[in-house]
Amino acid sequence: MSQSNIESVLHEARVFPANPQFAREARIGDESLAALHRRAESDPVGYWSDLARSEITWHKPFTQTLDDSAAPNYRWFADGELNVSYNCLDVHLAEHANRTAIIFEGEPGDTRRLTYRQLHAEVCLFANALKARGIRRGDRVVIYMPLVPEAVIAMQACARIGAIHSVVFGGFSAVSLKDRIEGAGARCVITADGGRRGGNIVELKAATDKALAEGCPTVESVFVLQRTGEPVPMQAGRDIWWHEAIVGLSDQCEPEWVDAEHPLFLLYTSGSTGRPKGIQHSSAGYLLGAKMTSRWVFDLRVDDVFWCTADVGWITGHSYVTYGPLAAAATIVMYEGAPTYPDGGRFWSLCERHGVTVFYTAPTAIRALMKLGEEIPAKYDLSKIRLLGSVGEPINPEAWMWYHRVIGQGRCPIVDTWWQTETGAIMISPIPGVTPTKPGSCTQPLPGIFADIVDDEGRSVTTPDAGGYLVIRKPWPSMLRTIWGDNERYLKTYWEKFQNKFYVAGDSAHRDADGYFWIMGRIDDVLNVAGHRLGTMEIESALVAHPRIAEAAVVGKQHEIKGESVFAFVVCRGARPTGDTRAFEKELRDWVTEQLGAIAKPDDIRFAENLPKTRSGKIMRRLLRAIARGEPITQDVSTLENPAIIDQLRGLG
Ligand code: PRX
Repeated sequence: MSQSNIESVLHEARVFPANPQFAREARIGDESLAALHRRAESDPVGYWSDLARSEITWHKPFTQTLDDSAAPNYRWFADGELNVSYNCLDVHLAEHANRTAIIFEGEPGDTRRLTYRQLHAEVCLFANALKARGIRRGDRVVIYMPLVPEAVIAMQACARIGAIHSVVFGGFSAVSLKDRIEGAGARCVITADGGRRGGNIVELKAATDKALAEGCPTVESVFVLQRTGEPVPMQAGRDIWWHEAIVGLSDQCEPEWVDAEHPLFLLYTSGSTGRPKGIQHSSAGYLLGAKMTSRWVFDLRVDDVFWCTADVGWITGHSYVTYGPLAAAATIVMYEGAPTYPDGGRFWSLCERHGVTVFYTAPTAIRALMKLGEEIPAKYDLSKIRLLGSVGEPINPEAWMWYHRVIGQGRCPIVDTWWQTETGAIMISPIPGVTPTKPGSCTQPLPGIFADIVDDEGRSVTTPDAGGYLVIRKPWPSMLRTIWGDNERYLKTYWEKFQNKFYVAGDSAHRDADGYFWIMGRIDDVLNVAGHRLGTMEIESALVAHPRIAEAAVVGKQHEIKGESVFAFVVCRGARPTGDTRAFEKELRDWVTEQLGAIAKPDDIRFAENLPKTRSGKIMRRLLRAIARGEPITQDVSTLENPAIIDQLRGLG
């Protein structure tokens, strides 16, 4: 946590009172929020039990709310039975069958609408196709698709038959895909011939073929959606076109009733060390979190048009594209392509044409669009938007103000929502119409979420503005259950630091005198590039896998748009490259893109003969961070074997 970060935050004194007009019509007003908080504080388990009974349609009701006998492997509503897809689709057929569930726009401009009835039929058809290929309850299915309705259909179809999906973001490389398929032991992959992004075709089938050629012995079937129409090779016996797989099947599919704790999905995310972790979520607890927060934080109702711009490859796309808003019977917008294709007006044009009422995106997108100038959004009618949201990284006050003034036209509340892949749903956020907001603060925990900030000894930090570890003191239903195949790592990563007493989020934060939370960043070696988590270790391993690289250390550097960018210090085998190294730098960037995907590509690469290490052999990351950021060096460098490398690391020698 850098000093400058703390200071800029302390200088932010603007407060925006809640809009009483919004509150009058909102799902949650002042009094109901206070009542929820009171109830959650006096009887947290009873509070969740009531919500789970009223908000979820159970096949078999649960009798025990929280089972903490194996804490911190908590179980919620464990003897209840339900189906998540049933709760997102079937429950709406009586009243909302003809309402639009999905408004889709492809990057080339093609559009499609699906009502709840049509979406239900498509999900059932594809669920039957999965079953016809032998996919059953508990099997793992990897989904590697563009952001098209079939991605949601595939996820919902898995949920319908009790298969566990693991979505891999379409921007990840074949190598990353292979690791995730193998990690999950998937029997099946669902992909597409390709997707469209920024005017290019993303060749998903080619990457899938490459991943499967190099391993993945568990994969028996590959479903391929025809999206681009470009020719792709199909392997007989293994590959099947989506449109052929559903021919002659029924558009009805009895849901598989599963236990509340049955894993709904795995989602791989970066950690500070080692390989990405397969975060495992439950069925009932997760659904409850996604649904409640969709209704409370986004105030969603059936007549809303909700656009969460996240890809389904990230948790935001799971909770606020595929599950939460559908459970709330809202209409969602899905857009396949890049925000600036063919120009910087695309997002605003989509909002205008589809009548978006609630818009949820990441600070990195806001900053990129802000940079293009306010004349662009001014050309579009954004008057239908009534609520704005932000997620994924701290939003800097300048971007917040622009979002408020230019996109929200001073009228719309902004919900800055803090949460993580692991938490499953939004944890700390304003309630629109009730909570006064401050640019850059995610404000206060939702009812039932016992967030706190503690010092190294686990004591609550009560001094205003003093930083500490962000922790959650009590379990909550949508929390991760474990790390797939590695419960030890689950315990170690999230619970060990404070002896299993509370969940450690891995972020640092502080609270101001009003009890508002300000997130300061990660405490571990995780970078947040454009709102996406990247482990430094993963990038370092990718670099070291290059035949000419002996050692690498990666740190984050502030970036105007992406929040953070990747800065790599590299030691080559043999002599240090000098002179014009641009061609070699490009080769390394392409290499990392190939290994991990373009988001992990280092913006800066610096060659040195050595990396600075402590006596015990640990890389001095704080020193490297200071160098990358051009900050003065305050660390003790007297132990360095070769002090001249400081100049090399700075790019001066
Ligand atoms: O550091 C926090 C940051 O993103 C991390 C979680 O990343 P991921 O699991 O990929 O999920 C992102 C989408 C939920 C957190 O540990 N983060 C997320 N939201 C915010 C945030 N930092 C500050 N403010 C936020 N609103």
